[in-house]
Amino acid sequence: MQELKIRGGRLLKGRIHVSGAKNAALPALAACILVDDITVLHNMPDVRDVTSMCQLLESLGASVNRYGDAIHVDTRGMTQWHAPHDLVRKMRASVLVMGPLIARFGRAEVALPGGCTIGNRPIDLHINALRQMGAEPTLIKGEEHIICERLIGARIHFDRPTVTGTENVLMAATAAEGETVLENAAREPEVADLAHLLVAMGAQIEGIGTDTIRVSGGRTLHGADHSIISDRIEAGTYAIAAAMTGGDIVLESIDSLMLTSLWAKMTHAGVSIREKASGDICVSGCPPFAPVHITTAEYPGFPTDLQAQFMAMMCLAKGESVITENIFEDRFKHASELNRMGADIVIRGRNAFVKGIPYLSGAAVTASDLRASASLVIAGLAARDETRVLRIYHLDRGYERIDEKLACLGADIKRVAGEGP
Ligand code: EPZ
Repeated sequence: MQELKIRGGRLLKGRIHVSGAKNAALPALAACILVDDITVLHNMPDVRDVTSMCQLLESLGASVNRYGDAIHVDTRGMTQWHAPHDLVRKMRASVLVMGPLIARFGRAEVALPGGCTIGNRPIDLHINALRQMGAEPTLIKGEEHIICERLIGARIHFDRPTVTGTENVLMAATAAEGETVLENAAREPEVADLAHLLVAMGAQIEGIGTDTIRVSGGRTLHGADHSIISDRIEAGTYAIAAAMTGGDIVLESIDSLMLTSLWAKMTHAGVSIREKASGDICVSGCPPFAPVHITTAEYPGFPTDLQAQFMAMMCLAKGESVITENIFEDRFKHASELNRMGADIVIRGRNAFVKGIPYLSGAAVTASDLRASASLVIAGLAARDETRVLRIYHLDRGYERIDEKLACLGADIKRVAGEGP
């Protein structure tokens, strides 16, 4: 099993190109099922979750080819609506094929994605919404078997905003008779990006980017040529890494507006965030930081996907920070690993109390999920001595060549074959 060996204390300097967003790439690939055509997606990150989604599409009968950062998806002649459990099990976002399969075939068989290390991740909001649109789900041996003779437009009110729930219903609604209104819809930029792809395919959608989205269904969609947005979570991760090391980096090709909540908190912590006329973002800063309290929330609130990374940064603050995780019920697993590096973090329910310390010390730490892994890498970059981050397959799910990109910025980081299977 591979691991990352990091010798801390090197400051990060230079320019970094932000890759396409994993969480925009996955729904965009699923949306290809809606058309009996060829769709070309650009700016697609080369990460494990995107590969898994491409494999899932191929198992459903599509042909998928990558040419650099473009992925061509030919869904002509697809006939399969059963998503194999062994593929769905690997990636929760496989649930995104449910809406498009129902839209195309009137049927879908998708294994329940199951929980993961950050929470039990139910899909009740997806299922309830699809049921309102005429779908009849039956749980058979851990798989949702859904039949839907007629998809009918409905007024869907989500009890709470759900990113993939909104995306699933958005895709199904393009094939429903009449109008579907999604209320309390997720407003993440990745949801808006999907809607823009659907419009390029011929869908009629209003309210993109707001919490109320109207879809006029029943139009035959066609293939499209679409470039997905850049990854705001990757950009935020590198910004925090730069500040943690006392560095000074320039983030290219990212829309700064997608990260206003992070910029506000980093500025409060004492980090300089400057947007240039070119659109590049300059980030410079160094510990010790001012302590900052954050509460994760749906977009445009502070993103839960940057909570772990920000916690690493607050380990080097002068004082105590309180981090409240309101989106997932079990997303503090990185805290115990940071404590192994000398951090002083106490968890009480949804709150993490982070007492700042003068420095972190290198250690062997184990990644538990994608963003926790990033948090440990960031801590290792700032720590004294050497840090070994184990189980880095989590990282490769969502960060494109993270070790290479960090090395280009001056980090002493190496990917090595570790012990164990
Ligand atoms: C998406 O997950 C992202 N994944 C996650 O990113 C991100 O953390 C999350 O949104 C929140 O922003 C993708 O887009 C592929 P939710 P999703 O449905 O859609 C509860 C990463 O690191 N809920 O918005 O699964 C749920 O348990 C990943 O890139 C229900 O109760 O998240 C959670 O507490 C991790 N019932 C909350 O809502 C449902 O039917 C928000 O979940 C659905 C969700």
